[in-house]
Amino acid sequence: MHIDILTLFPEMFTGPFDHSIIKRARDRGCVEIQIHNIRDWTTDKHHVVDDYAFGGGRGMLLKPEPVFAAVEALRRPGQPVIVTTPAGDVFNQAMASEFASHEALLLLCGHYEGFDQRIHDYLADREVSIGDYVLTGGELAAVVVVDAVVRLLPGVLATGSADDESHTDGLLEYPQYTRPAVFRSWSVPEVLVSGDHARIHAWRRAQAMERTRTRRPDLSVPSTEGPTLP
Ligand code: 6GU
Repeated sequence: MHIDILTLFPEMFTGPFDHSIIKRARDRGCVEIQIHNIRDWTTDKHHVVDDYAFGGGRGMLLKPEPVFAAVEALRRPGQPVIVTTPAGDVFNQAMASEFASHEALLLLCGHYEGFDQRIHDYLADREVSIGDYVLTGGELAAVVVVDAVVRLLPGVLATGSADDESHTDGLLEYPQYTRPAVFRSWSVPEVLVSGDHARIHAWRRAQAMERTRTRRPDLSVPSTEGPTLP
């Protein structure tokens, strides 16, 4: 996959993509990530990227000209433009899978008080928020989106590791334990050391369901209680 990130703060991306699994994915050629500075597409002497809002109000808006110029210079056929904005659709695992199915993505990071609306209307294919809180800019949101997408690409994780985790099947993950079997008097659940794989599977499924029901009722687990048949 090829990922372009358009930002006013390219330095914010050095670090997150240079370690651990994302670094390995880049080194292996599973993903190519290019960071671009929107300011490089300004044509005026002072490289101005923002301006006051028509009608007044606080804050500055990103001007359309450099953003359109950058996207038009970089965009590959079929490459969706994803704008990070707190007003976007809330990012989730299903969106991560959908994004992972593309050959290329272009992420456009919002900053200041926002973008000129014509960027949203005529450039964005998707508008994405990472949750109901406000960040100083879209850069950290773009890092989150890229991380969640890249780990789903073929060859990035060991086969199967992304199949059995929280959110993949709409459930939170079951609890896991490693050695020692008893630590400070706290024992690992007996079923996990029983060697009975059918019981272990059933226990994990029940734990995942119960965790999801109590911690994340919004994920709407099919209820095990409720009305019974006559
Ligand atoms: Cl994408 N941008 C900003 N500025 N704040 C956010 C966000 C994005 N997602 C959640 N909060």
